[in-house]
Amino acid sequence: MSLNIEQIRGLFPVLHQEVHGKPLIYFDNAATTQKPKSVIDALSNYYELDNSNIHRGAHVLADRATRYYEETREAVREFIGAKEFAEIIFTKGTTESINLVAKTFGRKFIGKGDEIIISTLEHHSNIVPWQMLCEETGAILKIIPINDAGEILFGEFEKLLSPTTKLVSVVHASNALGTINPVKKVIAAAHAVGAKVLLDGAQSTSHLEIDVQDLDCDFLAFSAHKIYGPTGLGVLYGKRDVLEAMPPFLGGGEMIKEVTFEKTTYNDIPFKFEAGTPNIADVIAFKAALDFVNSLGKPAIKAHEDGLLIHANELLSDIKGFVPIGTAKEKVSVLSFNINGMHPFDVGQMLDAKGIAVRTGHHCTQPLMKRFGIEGTVRASFSVYNTRSEIEKLAEGIAQIARFKNK
Ligand SMILES: Cc1ncc(COP(=O)(O)O)c(C=O)c1O
Repeated sequence: MSLNIEQIRGLFPVLHQEVHGKPLIYFDNAATTQKPKSVIDALSNYYELDNSNIHRGAHVLADRATRYYEETREAVREFIGAKEFAEIIFTKGTTESINLVAKTFGRKFIGKGDEIIISTLEHHSNIVPWQMLCEETGAILKIIPINDAGEILFGEFEKLLSPTTKLVSVVHASNALGTINPVKKVIAAAHAVGAKVLLDGAQSTSHLEIDVQDLDCDFLAFSAHKIYGPTGLGVLYGKRDVLEAMPPFLGGGEMIKEVTFEKTTYNDIPFKFEAGTPNIADVIAFKAALDFVNSLGKPAIKAHEDGLLIHANELLSDIKGFVPIGTAKEKVSVLSFNINGMHPFDVGQMLDAKGIAVRTGHHCTQPLMKRFGIEGTVRASFSVYNTRSEIEKLAEGIAQIARFKNK
């Protein structure tokens, strides 16, 4: 089914504005997506009509807020194909989800001499928590190398695996290059040596159909704000038996069954991992974002975005001085590039002057940039509301900038 993009654009108020006197072209979707009006309305409706703390109230508003909050949990369960709602934990974002696993699962099950495997493609949030854990426990961090296209070398990964591998934590789709990793194969190989697997789904959940039971991952971490939802909200999925074996993350209200000064017993999952008053408004509004994605269907979203990426590559490949970074066969709609002789930041500023919003720099993947021998890239990342004519304006802009440089 092909999508009516003009109709979809009508749902996003922020897109209809000018910057620097030019119509805004928003190509910074890998950083955060824009929000449809339904999400914005859900947020204000909550504060106007339903605002209340959840789970322990004895009044109508508390019941309503609790019901809406838990309805989002159920919607997330369905969105990623989890078996039970208890396996869905709300966090602040992908970063907090990964840190939660490092500080609970990691501290309990990963010790001196044990190995954790990540890939060269990782975002800092899937590097630093493991380095911190290794520092604390004496565990060892191993890195899967990549080829020049930005694809992991699967054979090298297999060589790294051993009975001392306790965890493999890899990105599903790279934010810097767009590479989609062969995660099903990664998970099966890791399980064969008894290791658990965490998927960083920050960039995959908005583009690719995800079924955690079919993938068989032990954990999946992702952020609402990259799927048309609010900022400051994320999800950690974990298999029931794994979550139950983990100690709690933060201590406080909600995560307990009974507290005495002598001893505290902890609540059942998922509440064991949701101490304190959660981000109720954003959780409730996130359901509207999931409804939006479901109403279009991810295959249709991906087909549209793939079409944009192909169109961009066709228009850009002939431009003198245009250097694509990350040319994997399987990609989400991320176009990373440099222009010979120009600093990415300057290119970004020149595109901004044309109303085109991109991101420049290392994209929180400094080791990956080092692998390519560069400081950073210009990144244009496409979403369902972007159009072919916007791609054409980007290509025109880049051609002008490259010509200007070569004068
Ligand atoms: C691949 C990847 N992992 C992790 C993160 C961190 O997400 P957040 O900042 O929402 O916690 C990002 C955000 O850009 C990302 O792209």
